[in-house]
Amino acid sequence: MGYQQAYQRSIEQPEQFWAEQAEHIAWFKKPQTILSNDDNHVPRWFADGEMNSCYLALDYHIEQGRGEQAALIYDSPVTQTQQTYTYLQLRDKVALLAGAMQQQGISKGDRVLIYLPMVAEAAIAMLACARIGAIHSVVFGGFAAKEVASRIDDATPSMILTASCGIEVGRIIDYKSIIDQAIEQAEHKITQVVVLQRPQQPCTLIEGRDIDWQAFTDAASPVDCITVMATDPLYILYTSGTTGKPKGVVRDNGGHAVAMKYSMQAIYDVHPGDVYWAASDVGWVVGHSYIVYAPLFAGCTTVLYEGKPVGTPDAGAFWRVIEQHKVKIMFTAPTAFRAVRKQDPEATFYQQYDTSSLKALYLAGERTDSSTYYWLKELLQKPVIDHWWQTETGWAIVANMIGLEVLETKAGSSTKPVTGFNVQVLDVNGSSVEANTVGEIVVKQPLPPGCFPTVWNNAERYHQTYMAPYPGFYLTGDGGYIDEDGYVFIMGRTDDVINVAGHRFSTGELEELIAGHDAVAEAAVVGIHCDLKGQIPLALVVIKDGIEADSAVSDSIVTLVRNNVGAVASLRQVLLVQRLPKTRSGKILRKTLRQIADGEQFNIPSTIDDPTILEEIKRVYIDQDVIS
Ligand code: COA
Ligand code: AMP
Repeated sequence: MGYQQAYQRSIEQPEQFWAEQAEHIAWFKKPQTILSNDDNHVPRWFADGEMNSCYLALDYHIEQGRGEQAALIYDSPVTQTQQTYTYLQLRDKVALLAGAMQQQGISKGDRVLIYLPMVAEAAIAMLACARIGAIHSVVFGGFAAKEVASRIDDATPSMILTASCGIEVGRIIDYKSIIDQAIEQAEHKITQVVVLQRPQQPCTLIEGRDIDWQAFTDAASPVDCITVMATDPLYILYTSGTTGKPKGVVRDNGGHAVAMKYSMQAIYDVHPGDVYWAASDVGWVVGHSYIVYAPLFAGCTTVLYEGKPVGTPDAGAFWRVIEQHKVKIMFTAPTAFRAVRKQDPEATFYQQYDTSSLKALYLAGERTDSSTYYWLKELLQKPVIDHWWQTETGWAIVANMIGLEVLETKAGSSTKPVTGFNVQVLDVNGSSVEANTVGEIVVKQPLPPGCFPTVWNNAERYHQTYMAPYPGFYLTGDGGYIDEDGYVFIMGRTDDVINVAGHRFSTGELEELIAGHDAVAEAAVVGIHCDLKGQIPLALVVIKDGIEADSAVSDSIVTLVRNNVGAVASLRQVLLVQRLPKTRSGKILRKTLRQIADGEQFNIPSTIDDPTILEEIKRVYIDQDVIS
């Protein structure tokens, strides 16, 4: 079936379409109900199906005779270690950890917070939770203690799995003390912390609370997979919204498994035995979906890479991994290749490696700039596929589904809607717009399997943020247009979310934090263009009367953000100004501020209370007067 036919069917007969796809996973009890509504009137997939995601990822393949095949390759240039786990070996590790957790009282529905660097134990921990029906919540290692604390309070986990340290280029990150601080800051009490001691920097364990990972599993017996319902949560993954409180995106088991398995064949065209590499981090949705679950559901070999595109040790690192592990499909964020290209514009490293195993490169996480796209396309002479998706959906909304049919691409477009996603563009009144007209991108309900059914502990927020603005549709938060041939063009967020090196941050959250600084009267944060990271935050800050506006203040604001959100927020520019430009009703003119910072033409909005302030900001910004 070609793309158009499959797409049409998925939209016109969604139940039949997904019932067929559900045949491809090994249920404990096949679902009879394909699509139904839950108590919150949210459409749910496969409600009476019974299964286990860890079984599908590991045990099932062993039963199929793939036990000796490599399931996971841990490749860590920062520790100069490599280790391959077969399906059997991975299953045994997972079953043992699951047994240890169960022995400590963790059971179905309990939350387990995972704060680990890119080590095999991160995937093992996730799968161990799935095995016993515990709900994992992985927090990206780059987040500081306050962010971890807010997730502890929202998810109220019964246990934390962490490591003594993580390794960044040239420095060691003390994970354990971040966890200690987070536990201290959180209101919810944590009584069990399992710590992976890494030789690069072991840590001290707190008696009565901390448990050494090795001892924990040594004392345990392996356990089997329990049965869960398709609609039981598999994980919670926090993402930035427009407020300071992160949103816990919930993923269920059944819909997720069906969507992941289907996507591997239809979008990525990979099959059992193929090597699949998503160069991301398990702390992001890309890591959940395409480092851990989808490649294992599909019987592939997944690569878990603890390194960077550059600096570990050089800009040839990606090519080396492709050659060494015979990677067929690679997936990363455009920013990673911008970093490679910046250091090696002539691609001299590329020439040193045999990358013939690579069939296609997939990009997502942010808009792919055309310069990087063409550089890669020319270099690789292979499909370079931009696809658009979000934490909320868990898989691509728009892509070139090469497993169905290879479509012509258009520069700037991530191609066409993925099967099951009825993508439309609406104007502010909720009416459909003509082709090529920019508007809010929405997806008509029901969303396909795999997409989030709720926000953890907050069904109301799910409804208010995503479903209420345009009844019958899911609001993606991205703006863009669809052309006359049905190609979708994503233009960027229409809310206060910014995208830094493929990572999502809330300007509202950064503002709240900076506004809490002793010297600060008021602050605004906008995302401005960065050649490497796509966007970076710029803070405009009004200092309280009587406090000297000098670089010491700017520096302390930068430190505040690093210590509370994390270095990954990449806030380095703080502009001290007399006033913030606002409308007469008090709204900060963010778009205009961004245009000034990016050197774009801007119109002075008619609603501004004092137009002279924009010129003043422009002068201060361009003179770089007080930028830290
Ligand atoms: N733990 C602790 N700190 C971390 C971290 C982690 N897991 N990941 C990043 N950081 C720190 C970095 O050390 C850096 O600190 P610094 O400001 O003291 O140097 C800061 O956070 C910013 O990190 P990063 O965004 O990685 O920027 P960079 O300048 O070090 O590297 C790139 C730039 C482009 C190489 C890098 O952003 C990258 O590899 N991006 C890939 C994007 C990606 O995987 N996106 C996921 C969605 S697909
Ligand atoms: P996250 O939930 O962190 O994966 O971020 C999702 C957001 O990243 C989307 O809402 C988009 O704004 C942006 N994004 C992801 N992929 C793409 C893409 N291929 N093109 C443009 N923007 C993208």
